[in-house]
Amino acid sequence: MRVVIFGPPGAGKGTQAEWLTTHLSVPHLSTGEMLREVIAKGTAVGRAAQSYIDDGKLVPNDLVIQIVDDRLKEDDCRAGFLLDGFPRTLAQAETLNKLLDAHSEALDMVIDLAVPNEILNKRLLDRGRTDDAEDVIQKRFEVFQAETKPLLEHYDSRGLLRSVDGTGTRDEVRQRIRQLIDQHASANND
Ligand code: AP5
Ligand code: MG
Repeated sequence: MRVVIFGPPGAGKGTQAEWLTTHLSVPHLSTGEMLREVIAKGTAVGRAAQSYIDDGKLVPNDLVIQIVDDRLKEDDCRAGFLLDGFPRTLAQAETLNKLLDAHSEALDMVIDLAVPNEILNKRLLDRGRTDDAEDVIQKRFEVFQAETKPLLEHYDSRGLLRSVDGTGTRDEVRQRIRQLIDQHASANND
């Protein structure tokens, strides 16, 4: 399956991706993780990306798209993938469509984890990643609202959007996602 896990900062994309990639037997492609890796390695791309992440802004499309393009070309992605944190702009979504078209592939679904900002804020402050400072969190929320949230409409109009209540325990959210995946699997076997 080709799935995008979507949602605001702290929605639980990475947390749910952990079991979901095992369940689906597909690689987990988190652009946030990939960017943190190139930053840790000190590459030119990493150096270019760092200040954007530190400020809670989006890393420029060309840098992110290059990373995703390289990764999607690898053989392990032919049987499917779970994209986490990508696409985040309309330009990224359009590029993703083109990359998939080139392999005659298409997304199966976009899972949106919906969580109110007060809960997100608490989760992120408790976690304390370097970009989880109060002012950077606020900036990330603003960027999500302005640049990323419009993608919900884009995917809804294509019939791919599945919204999930992302509040409650990790296990409760897991059960809700599990139900969607199972429904999709049985619909495609009929
Ligand atoms: P990225 O790493 O993708 O961060 P994010 O989208 O802000 O989301 P998070 O990773 O913070 O949250 P999550 O939804 O994965 O939640 P998690 O499971 O960790 O991106 C970081 C930066 O990289 C961006 O700001 C941008 O600069 C850049 N970037 C990345 N992709 C890009 C792109 N495509 N284009 C441009 N720039 C890009 O959960 C959060 C916390 O809550 C954890 O501690 C977790 O244990 C806890 N938690 C999870 N679920 C629950 C639950 N149900 N109950 C209680 N606690 C929970
Ligand atoms: Mg994450």
